[in-house]
Amino acid sequence: MSASENLIYTTAPAADAWIELGALDDLFDDGQCYGTIINGLKIGLFYIDGEVFCVDDICTHGNALLSEGDLEGYEIECPLHAGAFDVRDGKALCSPLLKDTRVHNVRIDDGVVFVQLAA
Ligand code: FES
Repeated sequence: MSASENLIYTTAPAADAWIELGALDDLFDDGQCYGTIINGLKIGLFYIDGEVFCVDDICTHGNALLSEGDLEGYEIECPLHAGAFDVRDGKALCSPLLKDTRVHNVRIDDGVVFVQLAA
């Protein structure tokens, strides 16, 4: 499912708010990657070994959605030029990437995923 298919929170959430995204099973019913939009910010979520990690979905190198890339271990490969990020800390791992990406906090309560956006 692409980010454009999921649109929540068209107004700004309060700073430090935990935003409910939905049930874990629903978000990742067809894969380990999920993209959504919160108040215009595209975020990508990645479900790996029972944990969910969240980073900015737009690649720091160009206009591509990481949630539409290939996930291998903790590395997400951008679908446009194959740059890769570590979804745990947002580190850019290879060229052509020159800039890390932002990481957002994720919490899972009773199978429901919440995200807290980075400042
Ligand atoms: Fe992501 Fe170029 S747009 S590596």
